[in-house]
Amino acid sequence: MDKFVIRGGSRLSGTVQISGAKNASLALMPATLLAPGVYTLSNTPKLRDVTTMSRLLESMGLSFSRADHTLKVDASRVTKFEAPYEHVKKMRASIYVLGPLVARYGQAIVSLPGGCAWGPRPVNLHIEGLKKLGAEIEVEGGYIHARAQRLRGARIVFDVSSVGATGNVLMAAVLAKGTTVIDNAAMEPEIVALAEFLVKMGAKIEGLGTNHLEIEGVDELHPADFTTIPDRIEAGTFLIAGALAGKKGSRVRVERCNPNHLSAVTTKLEDAGAKLTYGRDFIDIEPPEEIRPVNVTTSTYSGFPTDMQAQWIALMMVAKGTSIVTETIYFDRFMHVPELNRLGAQITVKENIATVVGVEKLTGAKVMSTDLRASASLILAGLVAEGTTEVLRVYHIDRGYESIEKKLRGLGADIERVAGEEF
Ligand code: UD1
Repeated sequence: MDKFVIRGGSRLSGTVQISGAKNASLALMPATLLAPGVYTLSNTPKLRDVTTMSRLLESMGLSFSRADHTLKVDASRVTKFEAPYEHVKKMRASIYVLGPLVARYGQAIVSLPGGCAWGPRPVNLHIEGLKKLGAEIEVEGGYIHARAQRLRGARIVFDVSSVGATGNVLMAAVLAKGTTVIDNAAMEPEIVALAEFLVKMGAKIEGLGTNHLEIEGVDELHPADFTTIPDRIEAGTFLIAGALAGKKGSRVRVERCNPNHLSAVTTKLEDAGAKLTYGRDFIDIEPPEEIRPVNVTTSTYSGFPTDMQAQWIALMMVAKGTSIVTETIYFDRFMHVPELNRLGAQITVKENIATVVGVEKLTGAKVMSTDLRASASLILAGLVAEGTTEVLRVYHIDRGYESIEKKLRGLGADIERVAGEEF
């Protein structure tokens, strides 16, 4: 297992290029199960989760070839309709194969994902939604067994806005007979990207980008090519790096992002005192002279993303004052807090609320990654901690950040990957 060794205090400045969105790619790739043929997915990030999804789909008969960030998918042959535990346990997004398989092949056996590092993550809404479309579903031996002749359009109102359940039901509904209405649908840009891809494949979907989707099922779809949207969480993480580890007069340009997808984060950064300038596909950030404490509450899009909560805490750790960070999506998602406190942060958590008392300085130490976004917050903290910080178990970060250490080094950070030993 690799680790990162970071010597804090470098001044970050320069330009960083943002990769394609992990969470969009993880939805687009299984959507290719919906129609046989060859697809070209451009701007696909080089990430472990993308590899995991490729392996899962390969086990079903698909094949993949990659030239840099262009992924070619050959979905001409699908021979198996199963997502075994070995794959799903590595990545919960494997559940995205459920909707397409049952819609197109009338059968699917998909392992239940189980919980994750920070608590329970149910899939009841995926199952209920597909049942509404007429799938017969049984859960047995840790597996979801789904069957259907042809799915039928239905009205689905989600109790909770769920990215995954919206994606899964959407991918099923496009091939159902008749009209499906999804209310309280997720509005995240990655779901909009998925819907746009499906429309390119011949699907009929109205209401893109709203929480009310209307889908007129079609008999068949055809392959299409698509360029993945930029990763807003990666972009947000680099913006925070610029605010945190920039120095007077320095400027970080976060390039190849979509500023419209980032407004919840950029507004908060402005509140914290950073100066931001917006271009069509870039944002420049100049750090504040002193970081002002700013409260955030996570919510569904277009609110502040839960996937940026840990990174926001990293910024607030060195703010001039106390801030409150409230997590409303995943109540227990605070695994990073004890690790950040090992660096000298003063964060307390009560239920789903973290109180962050800003400190003058952090001191480097060994810390342990527990999940993807927690790892990002540890790296950010390491950039400003005095001395050396070692972030262990960086395989978590490789799931969702492409070459983060190279990109940070490009901005002037002193960070290296040390490979191979058992840390
Ligand atoms: C996706 C993202 C993840 C992000 C999350 C919230 C991908 C691959 N992952 O995860 O990075 O943190 O959105 O923005 O896109 N829920 C239920 N029942 C369900 C499904 C969800 O109660 O069947 C609840 C969850 O517990 C959570 C909320 O709904 O409280 C939102 O979760 P959801 O949007 O489904 O997250 P994911 O799609 O798993």
